[in-house]
Amino acid sequence: MKFFVDTAEIKDIRELHDAGLVDGVTTNPSLIAKSGRDFKEVVKEICSVTPGPVSAEVASLEYDGMIAEGTVLAALAENVVVKLPLTLAGLKATKTFKDRGIKTNVTLCFSANQALLAAKAGATYISPFLGRLDDINLDGVELIENIRVIYDNYAFDTEILAASIRSPNHVTQVALAGADVATIPPDVIRKLANHPLTNAGIEGFLKDWKATGQSIL
Ligand code: E4P
Repeated sequence: MKFFVDTAEIKDIRELHDAGLVDGVTTNPSLIAKSGRDFKEVVKEICSVTPGPVSAEVASLEYDGMIAEGTVLAALAENVVVKLPLTLAGLKATKTFKDRGIKTNVTLCFSANQALLAAKAGATYISPFLGRLDDINLDGVELIENIRVIYDNYAFDTEILAASIRSPNHVTQVALAGADVATIPPDVIRKLANHPLTNAGIEGFLKDWKATGQSIL
């Protein structure tokens, strides 16, 4: 499973990229607002840090506006992926960008039927939002399992990009469900390395090593 980092913070992207943990980046208007930076500048900078796909979301809700904005975003760097909402206008724009050879990430997916439509429109990625379904007591993991079955049944090549990931457990669950990619907040990626037994083991080994009085160097 590929790891995308779900942030617009360059420092976090750079740190995780240097650790070999970033296959791509996703942003959304809320993350851009949180960064306090110019949208296009931040997208260009992210694209200079990682060669992986970087999702940049349109703001327009109309087809013509989506095409105009997505064309500008796609021109910022070779690795920009145009992020479009899962509406009929967004699906039409997805098809247009597919025909033009521009990659798309269809976002705000909350049902298997929506994912089916996105694949038929030629989306590069579909983003089912796990955490937001969990927030209203629905099963986000089951949604990803269902999309996996549907895409495999018909050999769709749209990649399942599990989004709205909130915890290390979500990461395990979407990996088991067969997501192609998970987009994960930086703090959750860092938490994946934690285990209390690892910490206890290091402490014990270090104590015994000091008692030997030896040095490796
Ligand atoms: C990524 O593409 C999504 O915009 C993001 O994962 C949404 O996460 P949230 O539901 O925690 O805002």
